[in-house]
Amino acid sequence: MKRLDDFRLRFGKRELVPLMIGGMGVDISTAELALEAARLGGVGHISDAMVKTVSDRRFDTKYVKEKLKLYKYNVANPDKSPVQFNLGKLAEATKLHVGKTMEAKRGDGMIFINTMEKLTMNAPKETLKVRLSAALDAGIDGITLAAGLHLGSFALIEDHPRFRDARLGIIVSSLRALQLFLRKSARTGRLPDYVVIEGPLAGGHLGFGMDWAQYDLATIVAEIRAWLVAEHLDIPLIPAGGIFTGSDAVNFMEHGAAAVQVATRFTVVRECGLPPEVQQEYFKSGEQDIEVNTVSPTGYPMRMLKNSPAIGSGIRPNCEAYGYLLDANGNCAYINAYNREVAAHPGERKVSVRDKTCLCTHMRNFDCWTCGHYAYRLKDTTVRRDDGTYAVLTAEHVFRDYQFSTDNKIALPQA
Ligand SMILES: Cc1cc2nc3c(=O)[nH]c(=O)nc-3n(C[C@H](O)[C@H](O)[C@H](O)COP(=O)(O)O)c2cc1C
Repeated sequence: MKRLDDFRLRFGKRELVPLMIGGMGVDISTAELALEAARLGGVGHISDAMVKTVSDRRFDTKYVKEKLKLYKYNVANPDKSPVQFNLGKLAEATKLHVGKTMEAKRGDGMIFINTMEKLTMNAPKETLKVRLSAALDAGIDGITLAAGLHLGSFALIEDHPRFRDARLGIIVSSLRALQLFLRKSARTGRLPDYVVIEGPLAGGHLGFGMDWAQYDLATIVAEIRAWLVAEHLDIPLIPAGGIFTGSDAVNFMEHGAAAVQVATRFTVVRECGLPPEVQQEYFKSGEQDIEVNTVSPTGYPMRMLKNSPAIGSGIRPNCEAYGYLLDANGNCAYINAYNREVAAHPGERKVSVRDKTCLCTHMRNFDCWTCGHYAYRLKDTTVRRDDGTYAVLTAEHVFRDYQFSTDNKIALPQA
C-alpha cells in the first residue's frame, strides 16, 4: 500500500514531498502556513491578494489608510475610475510581504506566491507586472499564475533577471486553457515549470461555469496528460480540488501526477489566517451548507458556506481603500449592483445586495467563507471537545497525515 511519501516532486535537481498547499487569498494561506510547508519539505503558498492590507496587518504599515486619505473625496462618487494604485507602493508592499517570508524560510521545501489575474486593480497590465516583478525581486521561489488565462503574463516579466531561474506555473481547469496559454507564451521561449489542474471541487473561484458538477478532475488530468505526451512536452502536472486524504493523493500520483495541491484541510489549522470562530463554522458545516454561487464580482463562480456574512450584505463599495477588483475602466460588478439597490430603495439607510458582494471588504474581514466541496468532512479530521467545539489542528499534523496515511484513513489529533 503506497503512501504519498513514496513519491517525490522533482524540480531540476531538487526533490520535494509532493504536497503543495494552495494559495488562499487575503492571508488565509499566511506566511506561517507556507513556512511550515517548506519546513516539512513540501511547497507552501503565500498570496499577493490585497497585499497592502496584508502588509498593514503583518508589519503595521499604513498603506490602506494613506490610499483612503488620498481618495476620500471620491467615496460618495459612483464613478471609481479615479482610484488608482501607486505602483511604487504596490512594489514596496509586495517586497515586504515576500521578503520577510523568504528570510524566515527554513528546511528543504519551497515557497511560491499565488498571483491572480482577476485582481485587475484599475490598471491590469501595469499592476500585474509590478506584482510579479516585485515578488521575483524579493526572492520568491516560484509564482503560481491563478484566476485568469494569463495569456500575457510571461511576457510581462521576460526581461526580469530571474525569469528563467524562478519556478513559474499556471493553474488551469481545462486542456483548452493550457493550450491557449502555451500558444500565447511560446514567444518567450519558456514553458511553465508546473501546471496545477484545478477541478470543480476546489475552494475559491472555479474555472468552470455553473455547470461545474458535470466535470471531473481525474478526466481533465488524463486528457491534459495524453495531449502533453502526444506533443512530447514534459511538464509536471499537479491536480487540485477535493483531494482530501493521503490515499486520494496517491491515486493521482499513480496516474502520473507530479504532486497534488490541497487547501481545504489546511483552513482549520492554527497557522491558517482564518479567525478561530470562523474555523468552527467550517468544522460545523454539513454538505447542505455549502454552495457554488455567482456573488463574486469577478464573474467566476465561487464555492462558500451559505452562512457567509458576505452574502446579501449591502455595504458601500470600499474602492477608495481597496479597489482590487476594479477593471481596466474602473468598474466592478458590485458597484453597479449596490447602486441599483440604493436607487430602488430611496431614503433607506441600509440596503441588501443579493446578487453580488463587495469581495475586497469581505475577504479582508474574513466574512466570505470560501471552501472546497469537502469542507463538510473537516469535522471528521479532528476531535470534538466537551464544550462542543472542534479542536483546531496544526499544519504539521495535517501535512504528515497527507504524507503518510494509507487506506483513506485520517489521523486524529491527540485528544
Ligand atoms: C479558503 C480558500 C481560499 C482560496 N483562495 C484562493 C486564491 O486566492 N487563489 C487561488 O488560486 N486559489 C484559491 N483557493 C483554491 C486553492 O488554492 C486550491 O487549489 C483548492 O482549494 C484545492 O482544493 P481543496 O480545497 O479541495 O483541497 C482557495 C481555497 C480555499 C479553501
